[in-house]
Amino acid sequence: MYRTHTCGELRKEQIGLSVTLAGWVQTVRKFGSITFIDLRDRYGITQLLFGEELNKELVENPPGREFVIQVKGVVAERASKNPQLATGDIEIKVTHYTILNASITPPFTIQDDTDGGDDLRMKYRYLDLRRPAIRRNVELRYAVGRAVRDYLHQHQFMDIETPFLIKSTPEGARDFVVPSRMNPGQFYALPQSPQTFKQLLMVSGYDRYYQIVKCFRDEDLRADRQPEFTQIDCEMSFVEQEDILKMFEGMVKYVFKTVKNIDYTDTIARMTWEQAMWQYGNDKPDIRFGMTIGNLKSAFRLSADAAAWMGGKSGIVATGELINGAGFGVFDNAETVLAIAVPGCSEYTRKQTDELTDWVKRPQIGMQGLVYIKCNADGTFKSSVDKFYSEEKLKAIAGATGAKPGDRSLIILLAGREERTRKAMSELRLEMGKRLGFRKENEFKLLWVLDFPLFEYAEDDNRWVARHHPFTSPKPSDIGIMINNNPVIENAEKYLEHPYNDIKANAYDLILNGNELGGGSIRIYQRELQEKMFAALGMSPEESMHKFGFLLGAFEYGAPPHGGLAFGLDRMVAILGGSESIRDFIAFPKNNSGRDVMLDAPGTIDERQLEELAIKLTNVGGVS
Ligand code: AMO
Repeated sequence: MYRTHTCGELRKEQIGLSVTLAGWVQTVRKFGSITFIDLRDRYGITQLLFGEELNKELVENPPGREFVIQVKGVVAERASKNPQLATGDIEIKVTHYTILNASITPPFTIQDDTDGGDDLRMKYRYLDLRRPAIRRNVELRYAVGRAVRDYLHQHQFMDIETPFLIKSTPEGARDFVVPSRMNPGQFYALPQSPQTFKQLLMVSGYDRYYQIVKCFRDEDLRADRQPEFTQIDCEMSFVEQEDILKMFEGMVKYVFKTVKNIDYTDTIARMTWEQAMWQYGNDKPDIRFGMTIGNLKSAFRLSADAAAWMGGKSGIVATGELINGAGFGVFDNAETVLAIAVPGCSEYTRKQTDELTDWVKRPQIGMQGLVYIKCNADGTFKSSVDKFYSEEKLKAIAGATGAKPGDRSLIILLAGREERTRKAMSELRLEMGKRLGFRKENEFKLLWVLDFPLFEYAEDDNRWVARHHPFTSPKPSDIGIMINNNPVIENAEKYLEHPYNDIKANAYDLILNGNELGGGSIRIYQRELQEKMFAALGMSPEESMHKFGFLLGAFEYGAPPHGGLAFGLDRMVAILGGSESIRDFIAFPKNNSGRDVMLDAPGTIDERQLEELAIKLTNVGGVS
């Protein structure tokens, strides 16, 4: 038997017991004739004490860092206890010692604060995975997956596998493709998600489906994106939006409770996409803090409902009345002027406001500069535009941001083109929230964003694209607009006036601390509406049949009303683990260029393989 116990298991109660342990050598410390070794495995660390009688053996066969050894010995009380360690009350008085396997010196230290850089850690990921910090992430991922399976099983969801070698599924990214040897010149696409399969399973009557499944998307990578990532993919039949929101609120709360012992008892907030864009400048707001955007002037087109909501709520109409006509060209000529009030910062020095100006001028933010108004504690104002705006006007602008007298706010205003300014303001709000400590790692705030636009106009292609995916149903009240309108718009300028612009999707995203945790929709389940949708996206009937004939066909055999959603498992785990970077929560991730540096993949394949696949490479740099 290699071991009787693990390295994390032994306590005071086992003192006197003879045990056998096996594991990796973390550290070796010599004190005269005695030697201490910290022995590590997945479960913890146990201190080993080698007395004088084993000295000869240690000299003859010295163990080094990361050697795999086996020891036999007796559990003894430690003279100096280590309260940091679960096994810190005891040590093993070693009687027998065997080296099971040696190790060359590892390229970095196997501990939480390692000296290994990112690239090195990725190259030797199997060593990196030994570090407790990474191991805890892998364990957390397992715990989340288990909780998800528990919950879904309790609610009659069935885990059903779907294929990886398929035909393109449009989720907005490029496909990874796989050549088919048996069908020369033809390619499979790897699924960007199992979207169409889960819908077909609904047609087949499996009314509650889930799968924890790999998805593949060839897109530009960021901290929260990997080319292959994992979804908790779900679908239900005979449901409306509300049923789905309730079911999956329950799931996320169950995960919080099971994995983090957090009782998320608050009602999960909801807002429409328009509200989110208006108040936070993006569709995944971090609502752990306020600092919402004051819309002084905006080209953002609000629906009648949203405008009424905005007007009713704050009385602000973003036509620029407060700021236009003061002779300040930057504001007068701007399409959009937005403001936020940053509390407690009215005493910022010139140096600090200059630094903020530089921050918004960085290419990633792309603003020309900023305007500020300091709301002094005594109720007066000082701004960088004093010569254009009276004290009264400054006060009114401050009011539009929700700044209260006594908040000692620094109001920051940005002006420019609508889209860029709103995005920049959203980034600035997040940055100031971070600097002021409002984005606390251990605070979790969930939010449903609802009523996304169904379409988005792609200026470059001069056509409508599906904002979510083409299987998403319009809100029931908007279905008529789709059925009755000709989708072809020749003139891009006209698109703003086109009714498609107003159609809202029966879609929802669940946001956690400013990250899109998951999203989904109620689906189209009638052939006619699905055909209309494809037509609106510029597909001819032949093309729709070629690409999605299987789905259109299935809709003719009694397709039930259905809907679903998918969560990003990597993101869920990373956020619960206190990070926004998903890489450390994936056992074998890719780097920012989509490479596996450990395997050195992707790589070339040999001539014979290419020939078998009937592929000829042209103009490929670096391929011999
Ligand atoms: P969507 O494209 O919104 O929806 O994806 C669902 C969730 O998957 C996660 N995600 C990613 N995580 C890591 N790396 C990526 N590259 C990546 N891309 C997406 C996000 C996202 O919220 N079929 C639909 C779901 C549905 O309608 O049911 C879909 O895939 O957390």
